[in-house]
This record gives sequence, C-alpha cells and structure tokens, in this order.
Amino acid sequence: MKISNVLVLILVLLYINASTEWPTHTVCKEDNLEIYYKSCDPHQDFAFSIDRCSDVSSHTFNIRAAILLRHNIKELYVKLNLIINGKTVLTYSETLCEPGHSKLIFCGKKKGEHLYYEGPVTLGIKEIPQGDYTVSAELTNEDHVTVACANITVKNYLDYY
Ligand SMILES: *[C@@H]1O[C@H](CO)[C@@H](O)[C@H](O)[C@H]1NC(C)=O
Repeated sequence: MKISNVLVLILVLLYINASTEWPTHTVCKEDNLEIYYKSCDPHQDFAFSIDRCSDVSSHTFNIRAAILLRHNIKELYVKLNLIINGKTVLTYSETLCEPGHSKLIFCGKKKGEHLYYEGPVTLGIKEIPQGDYTVSAELTNEDHVTVACANITVKNYLDYY
C-alpha cells in the first residue's frame, strides 16, 4: 500500500470515530404509517421496536426497548418537543422518577445496568397525531445529564375509528 493510501485510510477511520451521528432506525414502514428514530445522544444508541405497527392506532400497544444506562436514574425527567416544518409547536415535560414518586419500574437503576422492557405502553393521549412531524425526546437525570435522547420522525395517515 502506498503511503498516501494509508493516510487516507487513517483519515477515514478517524472520521468514523469522531462522527457522532447514529443511524436512523425504522420502527414502522407501512402504507399509512412510518416511524423512524435516531439517537441524539452522542454517546449512545438504543433499541426500540413496536410489535405490530397497526396497533399504534389503538390506545395501548406492545413495545420492546433496550438501553445501557450510562448514568444513574434516581431522578428521571422527560422533555418532548413537537416539531412541525422545523418549528417547535409544543413542549411537554414530565417527572418520571423522583424519590417516593416512581412512574416507571426502572426508577433508581444505576449506571452500568441494562434496561430492557417488553410489554404494553398506554399513551397519555387518545391517539397519535396525524400528519408529518418530528418529536424530539430527551431524558435527563438528577445531575441534568442526558440519559437518552431521540429524534422520532412520524408520517401518520392511519384512520381512527
Ligand atoms: C434532532 O432534532 C433537533 C431538532 O430538530 C435537531 O436540532 C438535531 O440536530 C437533531 N439531532 C439529530 C442527531 O438528528
């Protein structure tokens, strides 16, 4: 191999290493419903899937999610931004874990532990909004560090009955 090739190879490897973009994962890709997500935590990606995408039109559906905790979650907060055409139109925050006030079975888990969930989720809203939009979701803990972050792209044209 010529020296210049080696240099190019090293540069490519360095670039891959320095790049913090995670791949876009497909959750659903059907005629009337497409859901994709991408981790926006530069330190890690996570796994998420829905058992049957058509169930999303109902209030409760089964999901699977797995993540390695890089931080303790004695306290856990979620912040959601609804983005339409590049503009944030709605912001929502909620406390998920707090001592004496746990909304999730995971509350109190420690750095280094794996979280795995397989089972039903019930939406706090009646249905997933229709249309094309992005939801950016960020989970932070007691030290205000990011526990998980995702940009979720939705194209929802399901009919509700
Ligand atoms: C996530 O979405 C926000 C808001 O649209 C954007 O600023 C950010 O670059 C996105 N991050 C990734 C990793 O796509």
